[in-house]
Amino acid sequence: MPTLLHLDSSADLRRSRTRELTARFAEVWQAAGPDHAVVRRDLHRDPLPHLPDAALHWPPRLRPADAAPPADVEALQQALIDELTAADVLLVGAPLYNYTVPSTLKSWLDYVHVPGVTVPFDEPTQPMTGRPAVVVTSQGVAYDPGTPTEGQDHAVPVLQILLGQALGMELTVVTVPLGLAATVPALADQRERADSEFAAAHETLAALATKLAG
Ligand SMILES: Cc1cc2nc3c(=O)[nH]c(=O)nc-3n(C[C@H](O)[C@H](O)[C@H](O)COP(=O)(O)O)c2cc1C
Repeated sequence: MPTLLHLDSSADLRRSRTRELTARFAEVWQAAGPDHAVVRRDLHRDPLPHLPDAALHWPPRLRPADAAPPADVEALQQALIDELTAADVLLVGAPLYNYTVPSTLKSWLDYVHVPGVTVPFDEPTQPMTGRPAVVVTSQGVAYDPGTPTEGQDHAVPVLQILLGQALGMELTVVTVPLGLAATVPALADQRERADSEFAAAHETLAALATKLAG
């Protein structure tokens, strides 16, 4: 059964752009057939605890001899890794918060990025190699090349390094800029661009979902 793991992390439950776009992708995925499953994890509504013990960054064989991470959190970590490795496609809603990913999404990354388990370390472990990951990110302003804000979005690079390089997934990033144009008067002249790029992202994600649903 082709399975989509759908993560959201926006703290906006009313007008989130990433939530709307990931929902569109998931809807098209599910419409591909009754065998197309969606596993949903809302990292804002149901936040994970921050990683309570650094030992959990490693599998037991690579931990210091005196490591004793809490058993219940170790079980949670295993469940998150199992959920990820059972997914054929990963979909991540990642709004830009303070120039990086929301802390709720960062917690999830801290649980699933485990050298020697999900990324190669002492053994060539990389169970997600070649599987598609679709990142949907929304920025409040714009980070265009050649402007003073160029390079200040640190959310996308983190996800490219972790999901793309470390986990070896085939990453597609869909970015919608100027999310604040609708509400911030100083950005009012950018509304047309914000709306048209958002509409284009809808179409891009619907087409991508159709393609990946096979
Ligand atoms: C806590 C917080 C921090 C934010 N930090 C930034 C930022 O650093 N840069 C930016 O361009 N927008 C920032 N924004 C605006 C959001 O990126 C923007 O509203 C985006 O559309 C949020 O995604 P969402 O619509 O899916 O909730 C921030 C918003 C919040 C709530």
